[in-house]
Amino acid sequence: MRHPSLDRNRKWAPGSGAMMLILMSCVTSALEVPLDLPQPPTITLQSPKDYIFDPRENIVIHCEAKGKPNPSFSWTRNGTHFDVEKDSKVLMRPGSGTLVIDISGERADAYEGTYQCTAHNDHGTAVSNNIIIRQSRSPLWSKERNEAITVQMGVSLVLQCRPPAGLPPPVIFWMDNNFQRLPLDQRVSQALNGDLYFSNVLPEDTRSDYICYARFPHTQTIQQKQPISVTVLNSKSGNGTGIG
Ligand SMILES: *[C@@H]1O[C@H](CO)[C@@H](O)[C@H](O)[C@H]1NC(C)=O
Ligand SMILES: *[C@@H]1O[C@H](CO)[C@@H](O)[C@H](O)[C@H]1NC(C)=O
Repeated sequence: MRHPSLDRNRKWAPGSGAMMLILMSCVTSALEVPLDLPQPPTITLQSPKDYIFDPRENIVIHCEAKGKPNPSFSWTRNGTHFDVEKDSKVLMRPGSGTLVIDISGERADAYEGTYQCTAHNDHGTAVSNNIIIRQSRSPLWSKERNEAITVQMGVSLVLQCRPPAGLPPPVIFWMDNNFQRLPLDQRVSQALNGDLYFSNVLPEDTRSDYICYARFPHTQTIQQKQPISVTVLNSKSGNGTGIG
C-alpha cells in the first residue's frame, strides 16, 4: 500500500517460509517410450537459474534426469569439473544429481559460483541450465518460532520484534496480515527497539496476526517477522474469545 516495494520483497520474509524458495523448473514430460527402449537422458528437474541461499541452511541444488539406462550425474562449477566426492561437505543424492551442501561451520561464500549439471548415459548427454548460486547479503531475521500467547485480560504484555541489525537501522512497524497498521494509542505503544507494549490487554486485542515489519532504508527491502498470536482471556466468563 504505502510500501510499493513490499510485495516485491516479501519473498525475503523468513516468516512466510517462502524465503529462498527454490522454484523448481519442472520440465516437459517426454513422450511415453516403451520401457525397454534405450533413451538418452532428459533433465526433469533443476534449480532456478538464479538461486540465493540462506547462509544458515544447507544449499540444495536440484538436478534430476531420466533415461534408459539411468543416467549418471556430474557437475561443473565456474566452468571446471566440480569433484563432489572430494568435498566432504557436499553430498549428491542417490539416483539423482541433486547436491546438498552443508555449509554449517563453513565460509558459505566459498560455494558461490555458477553450477551446471550433466546427466549422461550410453545414448547421450543432457545438461542443466547454468545455475548461479549466491549467498543472501540482506540481514536476516532470526528464525525463532513464536509461541502463541494466552494472557488474562488486564495484564501487561510485550510483543518482541527484535529486528535484524542493519545500517542504518530498520524502520519498525506492526501490521496485520492485510498490511493494515495496528493502531497505537496510550494503551498500546511501540518502544524504540520496536517491541509492542500493551499496558493492559483487552479481549479485543485477541488476534493471530501481530506481525512486525522492518524496512531497511538502504536496500529498500522489507522483512516480515513470523506472526504472533495473542489470545486474551476474559476472566469474568472464565474462557476468552478463543483462537480462530
Ligand atoms: C566462481 O566465480 C565467482 C565469480 O567470479 C566467484 O565469486 C566464486 O568465488 C567462484 N567460485 C569458486 C568455487 O571458485
Ligand atoms: C474453557 O473452555 C474449555 C473448552 O471449551 C474447557 O475445557 C475449559 O474447562 C474452560 N475453562 C474455564 C476456566 O472455564
